[in-house]
Amino acid sequence: MKKGFFITLEGPDGSGKSTQIEYLRRFFEENEIECVFTREPGGTHIGEELRKIILDKSNSEMCDMAEALLYAASRAQHVEELIKPALMEGKVVVCDRFIDSSIAYQGYGRNLGDSVRVINEYAVAGCMPDVTFLMELPPAVGKSRISEDSQDRLEMEKIEFHNRVYEGYLNIANHYADRFVCVDASRDKEVIRQDLIGTVAEALANRGIM
Ligand code: TYD
Repeated sequence: MKKGFFITLEGPDGSGKSTQIEYLRRFFEENEIECVFTREPGGTHIGEELRKIILDKSNSEMCDMAEALLYAASRAQHVEELIKPALMEGKVVVCDRFIDSSIAYQGYGRNLGDSVRVINEYAVAGCMPDVTFLMELPPAVGKSRISEDSQDRLEMEKIEFHNRVYEGYLNIANHYADRFVCVDASRDKEVIRQDLIGTVAEALANRGIM
């Protein structure tokens, strides 16, 4: 049985996750709560190596299923090596993207459907987030915030792809409403910060962590 608390952040590219993760980092530091911050794809040595392959713009020939399996492989290693042990030690884990990114991007975006959920249920082996924040922002707005030069292989995709991903996110959030918290990401970042921290503080208090 895990003792810690597992938080994930999800949303379209350019939805402001990184800024909010930085605010969360400060919140945990100020409250002296031990917290592990990590990201996907990546988080471990093997995961970061896989990340380079997945996001490399020159790997344009990568087929959709290979992409889905690489994300899942990175996740399986991440769960086993870092996330599960931290949760077992009672730590809070904050992860920038997790299983829902695969369901949205590969399941909906790449049209791979439910196979992505099935693969990823093997990858996470029951280790699911306690709370998932979905940063809600229309993909066109998010995309306009990222300069063309800095786009990775996924960010380079057409707007139609990103629209399918976003629609997928909304469906997933609806389906797993018990763990999802939808955040209007078009607001001022300070207002969003207050929203997120308020929810996190309440959830941790309910768990007796703070
Ligand atoms: P990242 O560089 O972390 O982008 P961001 O800063 O916007 O979160 O993520 C890399 C890209 O990989 C991003 O476009 C989303 C995509 N992705 C998937 O397609 N499937 C997945 O399972 C994950 C974790 C990410």
